[in-house]
Amino acid sequence: MAQIFQPGATTYARMALVSLALGPFALVIFAYLLMGSPYITGQHETVDQVPPFSHEHHVRQLGIGCAMCHSQVEKTAFAGMPATQTCMSCHSQIWTNAAMLAPVRESLGQNKPLSWHRVNNLPDYVYFNHSVHVNNGVGCSSCHGDVTAMPLIRKAAPMTMGWCLDCHKAPEKQLRPADAIYDFHWKPPSDQEEKGRALVATHGIDKSRLLDCSLCHR
Ligand code: HEC
Ligand code: HEC
Ligand code: HEC
Ligand code: HEC
Ligand code: HEC
Repeated sequence: MAQIFQPGATTYARMALVSLALGPFALVIFAYLLMGSPYITGQHETVDQVPPFSHEHHVRQLGIGCAMCHSQVEKTAFAGMPATQTCMSCHSQIWTNAAMLAPVRESLGQNKPLSWHRVNNLPDYVYFNHSVHVNNGVGCSSCHGDVTAMPLIRKAAPMTMGWCLDCHKAPEKQLRPADAIYDFHWKPPSDQEEKGRALVATHGIDKSRLLDCSLCHR
């Protein structure tokens, strides 16, 4: 009788029983981990674009500032996207016949804006505002990473609610001086907390309202 099950098989049977018992919990934990994982949030992913526009090339190598193409970022909620004319200010002279730029020429000819695929895209029920962040000491790289090193834009942060709230709970850890907003290599200095608290004060940031549900869900 005792020989029907090999000792090894008993162990497996026990493990199977234990995992049956823990199953529902394991599933919940797994689902929770998955929710915040890059697999679900799309963090680190790039999105193909037509034409394959390179920030690394245009910003780092050619030295074009963000504001030339995203001119609303300091003024409105939306950062703004470049008009086809902005591309053509150079590409009517440089690489005028390149096949890669055919979509840009078509867009101009047909008077239809280029259509770019979104990389960072919050659900409609979330309100976000660029100018408020940029004018209060939050630099582009805190949310977008080092865009100047990206041939294709990568989603640098998870952009989940928990991620937004991490900074909203303690913005002093990440605020920087106004002249560093476009510094893509900025790192918090050793006395960041002190400097950050001073910035919270100068900007008159009311931390108590930063966790209100209605701030982002209006
Ligand atoms: C010559 C024009 C140009 C310049 C200069 C430029 N961008 Fe862009 N940017 C674009 C275009 C076109 C797109 C849409 C295609 C893409 O996602 O790559 C874009 C997309 C982006 C996106 C992703 C938008 C999304 O879908 O989530 C971010 C973030 C961004 N730019 C940040 C920057 C920053 C930061 C700078 C300055 C370092 C900068 N850009 C400079 C043209 C430009
Ligand atoms: C300030 C001038 C300037 C502006 C504005 C500009 N480009 Fe370019 N672009 C260049 C130059 C210079 C090159 C590189 C040509 C070379 O490598 O010889 C280039 C190259 C390209 C290439 C080829 C791939 C690559 O990165 O080498 C694409 C595609 C392109 N640009 C798309 C765009 C689009 C789309 C816009 C508008 C959103 C735009 N460019 C705005 C100057 C500009
Ligand atoms: C506090 C985080 C944060 C900062 C700082 C930030 N962005 Fe964004 N950016 C976002 C989010 C979130 C989105 C997606 C918005 C949406 O889906 O409604 C976005 C989208 C964009 C887009 C696409 C167009 C748009 O407005 O939806 C561009 C371009 C962009 N950002 C450029 C910039 C530049 C340039 C800077 C610095 C001057 C910057 N961002 C600073 C979080 C940030
Ligand atoms: C790195 C820090 C940081 C991150 C990340 C961040 N925020 Fe903020 N946010 C701030 C600060 C600081 C303020 C306060 C500005 C003020 O009070 O003047 C603010 C203010 C806001 C406001 C108030 C706007 C207004 O009209 O007063 C909204 C809405 C907001 N954030 C949404 C978001 C969302 C959504 C995300 C995530 C996608 C996010 N923030 C990520 C730092 C951050
Ligand atoms: C700083 C901005 C911000 C604040 C404050 C905020 N949320 Fe959110 N919330 C978000 C973002 C961003 C998402 C989208 C998350 C995603 O797409 O992964 C979200 C998503 C949600 C969702 C959808 C389910 C989920 O978890 O993805 C619910 C429900 C929600 N929020 C409730 C609340 C409640 C309740 C509060 C107040 C206690 C609150 N939020 C405060 C930014 C915020």
